[in-house]
Amino acid sequence: MNKINAAITAVGGYVPDYVLTNKELETMVETNDEWIKSRTGIEERRILKGEGKGSSDLGAPAVQDLLKKRGISAEEIDLLICCTATPDMLFPATANIICDKIGAKNAWSFDLLAACSGFIYGLTTGSKFIESGAYKKVVVVGADKMSSIVDYTDRKTCVLFGDGSGAVLLEPGTDGYGIMDSILHTDGSGREYLRLKAGGSLKPASEETVKNGEHFIYQEGKTVFKFAVVNMAEVSYEIMQRNHLTKDDIAWLVPHQANKRIIDATAERMGLPMEKVMINIQRYGNTTCATIPLCLWEWQNQLKKGDNLILSAFGGGFTWGAIWVKWAYDGK
Ligand code: UT7
Repeated sequence: MNKINAAITAVGGYVPDYVLTNKELETMVETNDEWIKSRTGIEERRILKGEGKGSSDLGAPAVQDLLKKRGISAEEIDLLICCTATPDMLFPATANIICDKIGAKNAWSFDLLAACSGFIYGLTTGSKFIESGAYKKVVVVGADKMSSIVDYTDRKTCVLFGDGSGAVLLEPGTDGYGIMDSILHTDGSGREYLRLKAGGSLKPASEETVKNGEHFIYQEGKTVFKFAVVNMAEVSYEIMQRNHLTKDDIAWLVPHQANKRIIDATAERMGLPMEKVMINIQRYGNTTCATIPLCLWEWQNQLKKGDNLILSAFGGGFTWGAIWVKWAYDGK
């Protein structure tokens, strides 16, 4: 019997309407458009406005978009994995809430936490449920309402992040297309450089944690940058080497969108020209688990069956890795 591969058979995405520009940020903190653009590549980001809305309100429309494109109903989903660093609440899982909102009555679901590497961890995990033959339709959705944990008085972090969601459908294929290989890493000693200090079991929420701003993202940017730039580039190169892929074999690099300079360094290490790199950081900023599927969502019409894609990410944890995908269908 031929080996079963997990093929991506549809992509969905969703970004909220509100556009927070660098110009508007200039009125909120001591910053300027030139600094933000030259240091990060970001020009604007989307923000989910309104009371009572969480990451599930980003994830649900992204999955619905995907279902519509594939022409299937939510009831056909077997498993839904939600990759998020900003769950609606600590429990129950945001994945469960998305399933409820879209009517995925026959699915089981869970959340996966790997910060900015969440989507590639989730895609690897989801692919195993397909490759084993256990399930036929697995949805992996990356959804993050980063604005819920950003301190809009801290110029070091508030310019970086945005809200959004992207989702893919995995289905079995036996003709050699799909998720081909993945390399994932974790180094928990990096936790001190990028984290949410309070609100977990180690330091539950209190008057003091709120007063100290410990429910907002804390990042030592320079240190994280140094780890990211080396590790994302190396793991992307490693997955090429391990699979005997040359730069000419690769159609697209789909990098996590944290900083344009990290993306440039990764492309350079792989020997790829920038025309082969998906970049939309200028419009969405860092949407954490949504960056990679939002790229696939925007580029899906240009993708062709057989295209070799390298997806790669680095994030809090530290976590990092890369995936080789052989694209399974022609875009329009
Ligand atoms: O996705 C998860 C993983 N995260 C990442 O990959 C992020 C990695 N880190 C980065 O992308 C970069 O470190 C940042 C974009 C966060 C910062 O860029 P940087 O070149 O490392 O700048 P820096 O933090 O060293 O700051 C340089 C200067 C500082 O001023 P002094 O101390 O030199 O006077 C900052 O205070 O820039 C200042 N600064 C700003 N100035 C204007 C910091 N933020 C801003 C700002 N506007 N928004």
